[in-house]
Amino acid sequence: MGEFVRLEVADGIGTIRLDRPKMNALNLQVQTEIEECAREATLRDDVAAVIVYGGERVFAAGADIKEMQSMSYTDMAVAVEGLHSFTTTLARMPKPSVAAITGYALGGGCELAMCCDFRLAGESAQLGQPEILLGIIPGAGGTQRLTRLVGPAKAKDLIFSGRFIKADEALAIGLVDRVVPDDQVYAAAREWMSTFVGGPRFALKAAKEAIDRGGELDLDSGLALEKSLFSALFATHDRFVGMESFVVNGPGKAQFEGR
Ligand code: HXC
Repeated sequence: MGEFVRLEVADGIGTIRLDRPKMNALNLQVQTEIEECAREATLRDDVAAVIVYGGERVFAAGADIKEMQSMSYTDMAVAVEGLHSFTTTLARMPKPSVAAITGYALGGGCELAMCCDFRLAGESAQLGQPEILLGIIPGAGGTQRLTRLVGPAKAKDLIFSGRFIKADEALAIGLVDRVVPDDQVYAAAREWMSTFVGGPRFALKAAKEAIDRGGELDLDSGLALEKSLFSALFATHDRFVGMESFVVNGPGKAQFEGR
């Protein structure tokens, strides 16, 4: 349990809860604590899906600018490894994940949200990559993950200008996937993630890996990865459960065991 970030587990869902007033600024300690929570969520059998949540007011307003202000090139050349380590650990959790976004998701906060499989935002949420206004660029994967989500022209628009966009525009360009009333953000994220609790754990893991890793490869290599992952699922108990249940009871009724 970290000072600013904790993993709360209930009903099969792990919530990585950021709690560093006023803005959940991602200082070095917060980054380390997020990484620890992501590791724990990866390993725990009682976590089927993960929500990243910053509370009712704000998701995260980015890296801690006050901490970064005094850093030299060599300081950042070391610290950037931590930035990429925590974001990569989060993105590679082998379980479905959603960023539940209230208020601002800016800079590193937007990059954090993009490490999740999905983004669900409140109506008054605002997202952006305002690093350019500080004389820098996104440094925790933003130039790459934003481009992959919304395409190069829209990524350049946001990164070159640093402008904030509201939830409806983020939805229109594919940066967020669902918009709900502000006071329903966390409940809606829980409802969404609960659909994966009791799911075929290894098939979900394989699907995520095939899409995320395969998407970085040429088509032939991606198809080869899919072939291996697909065949490997025939070694799981859940695929017997799923197919037998279909034959006996019809579609969609399988009670998976996660093994
Ligand atoms: C440190 C921050 C902060 C940040 C806000 N604060 N954002 N401190 N780092 N990223 C602090 C303010 O200094 C202030 O402290 C308090 O939080 C409230 O902020 P205000 O500006 O007074 O509030 P408001 O007018 O409501 O504006 C909110 C805001 C604005 C729109 C979020 O604060 C803002 O633009 N913040 C910076 C956003 C940003 O540029 N993010 C990118 C960071 S670079 P006091 O003590 O005065 O109350 C980055 C690089 C990526 O993320 C690297 C990977 C992690």
